[in-house]
Amino acid sequence: MTTDQFWNFYWETRLQYLQGQGKGEVILQASRLIRKMNQPARILEAGCGEAQIIGALVDAHGNPTGKQSSVGIDRDEKALVVARQHYPPIRFLQGDFTDASLLQSLGQFDLLLLVNALHHVFSDAYDPTLGDIDVPLGKANVRTSFADLVQTIKPGGHLILFDGLEADGSPETKVQIRFKNTDAWQKFQTFAQEYKPFRIHFSLIQDKLVELTLHAFTRYVTKIIFLGKPLWERERHESYQYFQEEEMRQMLLDNGLVIQEFQLISVDYDHWLQEVEIITPNVLFPPEHVIITAQKMR
Ligand SMILES: C[S@@+](CC[C@H](N)C(=O)[O-])C[C@H]1O[C@@H](n2cnc3c(N)ncnc32)[C@H](O)[C@@H]1O
Repeated sequence: MTTDQFWNFYWETRLQYLQGQGKGEVILQASRLIRKMNQPARILEAGCGEAQIIGALVDAHGNPTGKQSSVGIDRDEKALVVARQHYPPIRFLQGDFTDASLLQSLGQFDLLLLVNALHHVFSDAYDPTLGDIDVPLGKANVRTSFADLVQTIKPGGHLILFDGLEADGSPETKVQIRFKNTDAWQKFQTFAQEYKPFRIHFSLIQDKLVELTLHAFTRYVTKIIFLGKPLWERERHESYQYFQEEEMRQMLLDNGLVIQEFQLISVDYDHWLQEVEIITPNVLFPPEHVIITAQKMR
């Protein structure tokens, strides 16, 4: 068995439970990068949660010891209790990954993982008086936080960023969609009432046929899988999207990163097709996730 065959088999058997969320692809890409390094990688995961990603990678590929160990940061202490139980070789810190002085105190890393993390920085710019996210502030906060996080990557080291991506085109583009059954139509109405970061407006054109903006449609398709599940209470307060592709690419370029892969993935496409049909010609389902691998210039 070649080394690549071994790792394909290893991850195929280990990743089943993560594939549905697209995170499996992050682990595969990170594993390929780490295997090219001649020693265990020093990894930082900002917003690591229960450490499914950094933990799986350290389990498989090892960890530098002592002060050089890999680090996971999260503000949620409950998640870190679980992470520490499962992955003792990793150092887990409770804190805010937007805190530049905390990041500076950690030294430098071979690999920075930002997996479903930066959209929280954007969502945190929710302004109760606006009843919406303060978009310019949210975007500025993402850029500032990203610049500080990139400082932790060694020259020649890598970044893997996984998050939502705003669809290309004007967010105000009108889209007509038809719900394929009563259940889907009712779920959409609950979503429109309960989703918090941006107000979701729509006009009813005919039975189960509505018109809404591309901006609202994007939120609907990427959030609807959470409705009725325990995660909905958290997910309904977050905007998964903040940048279009050009803005994302520019942010990496501005911080001295060379993009090696820029991949759009949609794992829930089949589910969307069961619920809704796009009536407006030439409008496609938006991308669900973006996964970017980039290298910091030396
Ligand atoms: C959607 S979870 C992703 C967890 C993990 N990266 C994964 O994909 O399995 C996002 C995590 O980021 C954490 N988080 C969000 N904003 C943060 C901040 N400013 N500082 C530290 N942690 C933060 C949350 O507490 C949450 O655990």
